[in-house]
Amino acid sequence: MDEERQPATSRRRLLAGSAAGLVVGGGGGLWAGTRWGNDATTTPAASAPPTGAAGPDGRGSPVAATGDRQAGVDRPATPPRQLAFVVLGEGAGAPPDRAAVAALLARLGEDIDALTATDPADPRMPDGPGNLTVQVGIGAAWADAAAPGLGDRVRLPAFRGSDALPDELRDGDLVLAVAADDPALPDHVVDLLLAGLAGPHGLRVLWVQRAFRSPGEGAVVRNPLGFRDGIIQPADAAAMDGGVWIADGPAAGGTIGVVRRFVLDTAAFGALDAEAQASVIGRRPDGTPLSGGDPDGEVDLTAKTPHGEYLVPADSHARAAHPSFTGSPLMARRSYAIRIDGEGIAPRPGLLFWSFQNDVAVFARTQQRMDRVDRLMDFATPTAELGYLVLPGFTADRPLGSGLFGA
Ligand code: HEM
Repeated sequence: MDEERQPATSRRRLLAGSAAGLVVGGGGGLWAGTRWGNDATTTPAASAPPTGAAGPDGRGSPVAATGDRQAGVDRPATPPRQLAFVVLGEGAGAPPDRAAVAALLARLGEDIDALTATDPADPRMPDGPGNLTVQVGIGAAWADAAAPGLGDRVRLPAFRGSDALPDELRDGDLVLAVAADDPALPDHVVDLLLAGLAGPHGLRVLWVQRAFRSPGEGAVVRNPLGFRDGIIQPADAAAMDGGVWIADGPAAGGTIGVVRRFVLDTAAFGALDAEAQASVIGRRPDGTPLSGGDPDGEVDLTAKTPHGEYLVPADSHARAAHPSFTGSPLMARRSYAIRIDGEGIAPRPGLLFWSFQNDVAVFARTQQRMDRVDRLMDFATPTAELGYLVLPGFTADRPLGSGLFGA
């Protein structure tokens, strides 16, 4: 296919249509609430603003964990500012024990429901949950154990840079994505959940990434390159149903999560002048497309200079990632900034790219096209990646994972 030909289908028509080896629970034991005290008299803010919105204390208001779909994808609409992304693995060997996985997930759902409730008597959450969400997903091996072939719907192909990654940073069985506006909550809740997961199944933490976003409204945030990011998203509930949520089968109500962790060469990007930086992205830092128009508007891929050159350059990210070339519906993107630091190393910025789509090929085709033509990829090195199934929602009567691992 001529990659730079005019997109055959407009977006509107499309829319219409670390610490490897750490044994879980090693540092836990916090269920009794000892670290955070037992101040059962502390109550959450009485008059809560709309779901997930920032409250007067900056911690946001509670987001229900239960429902047809899990929280933490599009609930709350503005992704919480702090994230702890945790990937656990059972290790190669015997296939997963369905009954054990069913029990583990059901218990996890109960824990999440309790932790996100506003029970002032819960000593583990003396200040309430704020806008805490815990999204639970499973990797390809567990997906295959749930339903043969389901693993193929989440498994990622290798991309540019993937071969340099050890298996443990490309695979995993259980994902916990813990997000909250309160900077202290994600780590605390990860500790609680890991302590609760300690047991005979041998799950190990494969990697953990803390990540953060600036304050803002909706999915848009300024990324570590200084550009507004997350502008183009599925427009409405119909677009989410069409391109993000899984509609049928045992995974209905779930979605396919993809996470890719990148180190960004901000020094090299920062050495470019403003015009060159905008050419790499295809937009200006405030979002304005190089084809002109509103900062929150779409890029016009057909617009050209009087000399016949594309205004949104052929090797720019906005053109490379544009779904019209891959014939894909839009993925929902919720990226976070990260920082890679440690003793004896200069800190490096990075990006935890995080997307949701109901077909992993939408992500794969986009990334493969970016690997071929996108200059942005010269400034980004992947350091971990995973495709996983975000489990369907759960309720008191329908435990987490029961549609997939039930008898
Ligand atoms: C490596 C780090 C990345 C950075 C810094 C980055 C940054 C950006 C920016 C600034 C925009 C323009 C504003 C917007 O629409 O959000 C954008 C658009 C987009 N990005 Fe990325 N991105 C990265 C990785 C990825 C990856 C890995 C994918 C998927 C494989 C992706 C897919 C998209 C898509 C689909 C759009 C919207 C294109 C359109 O329809 O106009 N990005 N990105």
